[in-house]
Amino acid sequence: MKKIILTLAMALLPALVFGSGGAHLDKINVDLNNQSSLQRGMTTYVNNCLGCHSLQYQRYLRTAEDIGVPTELLKGNLIFSEQKVGDKITNAMPAADAANWFGTAPPDLTLVTKLRGSDWVYTYLRSFYQDDSRPWGVNNSVFKDVGMPNVLGYLQGVQLNHCSEAELADNITEIDPLTGIEIGGCYSLVEGTGEQSAKQFDRTIYDLVNFMSYIGAPHTLQSQSMGVNVLIFLFLFFFFTYALKKEYWKDIH
Ligand code: HEC
Repeated sequence: MKKIILTLAMALLPALVFGSGGAHLDKINVDLNNQSSLQRGMTTYVNNCLGCHSLQYQRYLRTAEDIGVPTELLKGNLIFSEQKVGDKITNAMPAADAANWFGTAPPDLTLVTKLRGSDWVYTYLRSFYQDDSRPWGVNNSVFKDVGMPNVLGYLQGVQLNHCSEAELADNITEIDPLTGIEIGGCYSLVEGTGEQSAKQFDRTIYDLVNFMSYIGAPHTLQSQSMGVNVLIFLFLFFFFTYALKKEYWKDIH
């Protein structure tokens, strides 16, 4: 018995360690069944991100089917280039030029929520702040000296990150165990500089990261419905096997 408990405890250990990993990042409760959220997220993505970041391991049509967008709407509203509905979600940005413009070529983002975690992406997109020493005038608290401009700044507005001495003494920042850099800060928004309120902006980013989480694991929706079907099958199968067992044993008892 002791051995079993020990083995179980060892098996759970990695979960505990990983669990504490992203603790200081803002949490996002991904909901892949919320189709309208996924659709709004896709709209934000193709309008603001696709120009630089492809999603080259996913196709338009598959995505649209999974998140409930009719093909006509997909063609008219979500594909701006000459691409066909069956194509992969790519862009025309030449990687070499992009590397010159931004210092690094914008990476493909199909798997970024798998690699970094949805919490990280959710926190990253809300953590750009004004920093005049940087080429684009912004820095990011979870991605120091980032090469990406604050493309959603027009929605969020100008965000400042100034901690008072007292706040700094309170040790407001913590270390991200994945990247080893400090996370967190004392944010304030400059009033009237963004199109959305802080709450609306959080919602926009929620939908966007929800969509990106679907893109990173498109089979999750299918596995969920498949899981239910398998359980129903096992449940029904149980009755048949039970009836069969009764039949076999009826003359023996
Ligand atoms: C003008 C081009 C451009 C646009 C538009 C853009 N990005 Fe970026 N993005 C970049 C560049 C360049 C980097 C790489 C930054 C670096 O390595 O310093 C980056 C990095 C990232 C990363 C970090 C990737 C990693 O793991 O290193 C994420 C996540 C990201 N972008 C998300 C987005 C999202 C979501 C949007 C749309 C709201 C967006 N980006 C729009 C240029 C862009």
